[in-house]
Amino acid sequence: MTIRLSAPELDQAAALLRGGELVAFPTETVYGVGGDATSDESVAAIFAAKGRPRFNPLIVHLSRTDEAERLAQIDSRAALLMQRFWPGPLSLVLRRAPRCPISLLASAGLDTLALRVPAHPLALELLRRVGRPIAAPSANRSGRVSPTTADHVLSELDGHIAAVLDDGPCRVGLESTVIDLTGKTPLLLRPGGIATEELETLIGPLGAPSREDAPRAPGMLAKHYAPNLPVRLDATRVEPREALLAFGSGAPTGAAETCWLSKSGNIDEAAANLFAMLRALDRPEFTGIAVMPIPEQGLGRAINDRLRRAATR
Ligand code: TXA
Ligand code: MG
Repeated sequence: MTIRLSAPELDQAAALLRGGELVAFPTETVYGVGGDATSDESVAAIFAAKGRPRFNPLIVHLSRTDEAERLAQIDSRAALLMQRFWPGPLSLVLRRAPRCPISLLASAGLDTLALRVPAHPLALELLRRVGRPIAAPSANRSGRVSPTTADHVLSELDGHIAAVLDDGPCRVGLESTVIDLTGKTPLLLRPGGIATEELETLIGPLGAPSREDAPRAPGMLAKHYAPNLPVRLDATRVEPREALLAFGSGAPTGAAETCWLSKSGNIDEAAANLFAMLRALDRPEFTGIAVMPIPEQGLGRAINDRLRRAATR
């Protein structure tokens, strides 16, 4: 049985993590399943709990920006991004520092490391009390939709992890943006909680990983974030037994059930609602989930990325 802890029980969560156990915790993006990033056993346990392939590396979470210097090689672009966006929903893939104490399993055998400082008060306090870097992928079974509440975490990982720290729903609702800074051109490995426009203003155009870069972006599997029902994109009409994810005005009528990502067409509100609503509509009485078009701007790019993967069968 996985125990549910709340903010006043933070010390218990920290003690479990220091003892090598797995604890799911909230961040501003999604809930992560955390383990001691310096322990091979804990990192191996994360892969097992998620059913995650070992070639897909993990993001390591820190409580302070300056901790990154001990773990990875920081160039001027990295320094700029860290100063501007940390704490926040941005993960940076960097070369591991020579005596980096992070388990090689967390890097999936690559010579790189993904780092981030989350913008969530309870997560930061947890990281401080543990006093070690924490590896934390999203707290879902591999290939499924990321969790934005403690209930989502328990629905997939109950019995597989020691505890979940419950602090309500996540503010951003989409995973962090992942940027690879190990080459000449910064690469966008995953659009996410920081809009790419904002990043490009600071460090110039971001490249897309090519086929040769495949080992650099092992997490970018086409089928991912998969609900059980088929997902149909850019819907302008619905079938009678389809559920509808609506956005903005002009929603088609006749859906079996409708969830509004945002009635006013607010893209940040839509991002925060996306995963919870995909889960809520993923019920066997419907034949599929139809999704209205979402503009490819700001967080819309990350929303559409997740929806395309959800629609890949
Ligand atoms: O918002 C988030 O990033 C959440 C919260 C919990 O922090 N975490 C998260 O982790 O989404 P995960 O494991 O579900 O996604 C991590 C992504 C994967 O696509 C993985 O392939 C990529 O980051 N990644 C991690 N380390 C990498 C590395 N060294 N090189 C390339 N990609 C890496
Ligand atoms: Mg994930």
